[in-house]
Amino acid sequence: MSAPEKSFYLTTPIYYVNDAPHIGHAYTTVAGDFLTRWHRQKGESVWYLTGTDEHGQKVMRTAEANNTPPQEWCDRLVESAWKPVWRDLEIANDDFIRTTESRHTERVQKFLTGLMEKGFIYEGNYEGPYCVGCEEFKLPGDLDEGKCKIHSKPVEMVKETNWFFKLSAFVQPLLDHYKSNPGACQPDSARNEVVAFLEGGVSDLSISRSTFDWGIKVPWDTKQVVYVWFDALLNYATAVGLTDPADSEGGKFFAKTWPADVHLVGKDILRFHAVIWPAMLMAAGIPVPKKVFAHGWLLVGGEKMSKSKLTGIAPSDITSHFGVDAFRYYFMRAIPFGSDGSFSWEDMSARYTSELANDFGNLASRLTAMIEKYCGGVLPARADSSDLASSLARTVGEADKAICELDFQGGINAIMDFCKEVNSYVTIKEPWVVAKDTTRKAELDAILYNTAESLRALAVLLHPIMPISTNKLWGYLGADKTLGVLGKHKISEVANWAQLHPGTKISKGEILFPRLEDKQES
Ligand code: ME8
Ligand code: MG
Repeated sequence: MSAPEKSFYLTTPIYYVNDAPHIGHAYTTVAGDFLTRWHRQKGESVWYLTGTDEHGQKVMRTAEANNTPPQEWCDRLVESAWKPVWRDLEIANDDFIRTTESRHTERVQKFLTGLMEKGFIYEGNYEGPYCVGCEEFKLPGDLDEGKCKIHSKPVEMVKETNWFFKLSAFVQPLLDHYKSNPGACQPDSARNEVVAFLEGGVSDLSISRSTFDWGIKVPWDTKQVVYVWFDALLNYATAVGLTDPADSEGGKFFAKTWPADVHLVGKDILRFHAVIWPAMLMAAGIPVPKKVFAHGWLLVGGEKMSKSKLTGIAPSDITSHFGVDAFRYYFMRAIPFGSDGSFSWEDMSARYTSELANDFGNLASRLTAMIEKYCGGVLPARADSSDLASSLARTVGEADKAICELDFQGGINAIMDFCKEVNSYVTIKEPWVVAKDTTRKAELDAILYNTAESLRALAVLLHPIMPISTNKLWGYLGADKTLGVLGKHKISEVANWAQLHPGTKISKGEILFPRLEDKQES
């Protein structure tokens, strides 16, 4: 029996359900969706996990402030806010984990018992500042005049007898790990920050709380609940079967998915993912994730957009105006992944018009209109060789390399450069002039066929980032009938020229990216 193929396993953070998602959360989740859709189209087995972080004081206090029991509050927010937003944004996650589910709580308890048995947990006294916004025990350097630097709110003093995890024992193993695997924490700036933090020394971590009860009970001391981050980080592994016996369903699934290939996170939660999480796994003797990637922040007025500062913009504020595809496209295209970026309506409008409406949408409209006018709406004969074909092959190589390295901007640019090249091809070949001369029919057919083929390739390549409009285009090209489901088309086969079937009915459907003025009127 051969080992099952290892899946490409990618996760997003599990978000706090103290409020509805804003575009910062959508940014990470769309990035994960783009990358996993790309890997699926590479023909790989893929597992994409997202979910919600439901325990701890932050969620508990929000529920209290809304006069609702915490579980009821979480259920309501997950069903009415989180899941619908991901559906609306065409997020194709394979699983959604909630930390209040028994599949999670039971495995967390088993994991914890395992660490206790291995001697990595001991009882001690904690005294120090805590930020409920971050759900984090703070160090003096994290504070600014007694306030958390991230939330600009006063921290609270905690003094409790708790259970501690021997985090300090993993400083050297972690330093060795990042030295020999620079790809394990990216971008480089993030890894450097983590290494500097580790070199500064790390103390043991309090992993339980006794002053409130909204959490997973410590199995051997049920007056304490597990510290929310210790609980939350484990989601990545509990969701795929951590602690289940190797020969059980869960155990087999774990073998197929673990270690995770990429944990996508915002840089706000880098330390949890690049220090605490791998240390927990090392302690348990489980392989650490292959990569933690910390992306930058979406800023408003120069500060991190956030729920607590009420600067959060809902995804629907943007999608209602520009549509879901443009939303997905914009953030991946405009901001280098790993850097901070500011959202602006002006920049979004400008890119929508020049890149989506003009470069891409208009190319599709021109082609379908010309085929209708000059070819009776039927795709003409195959044209085999074209400069476009070789340039497409180059594009695919460039885009694939960039996207697999999480350079989403670079990948999209490569594809959109090809789109521009196709536009120039049409402009230079002037099919509308060629069409006037009946002796040049073969030449006209070749121009139109090559343009249609280029659009076929663009539909496949842009499908992971813009699933809706590319599916429409696929339909206009009649490819849904002749070439099958768009999402099944492999990246490695995109550049094989002349796939569209001559004689296929081409339809001139609705405009892919309507002009914004037109949209406002309707
Ligand atoms: O931290 N720009 O949840 P959270 C970019 N529950 N990304 C942003 C963003 C912004 N302005 N604001 C939020 C938690 N994000 C924990 C995680 S994981 C085991 C537990 C995104 O609701 C980004 O991915 O505060 C960030 O790391 C995450 O949302 C924080 O979400
Ligand atoms: Mg947060």
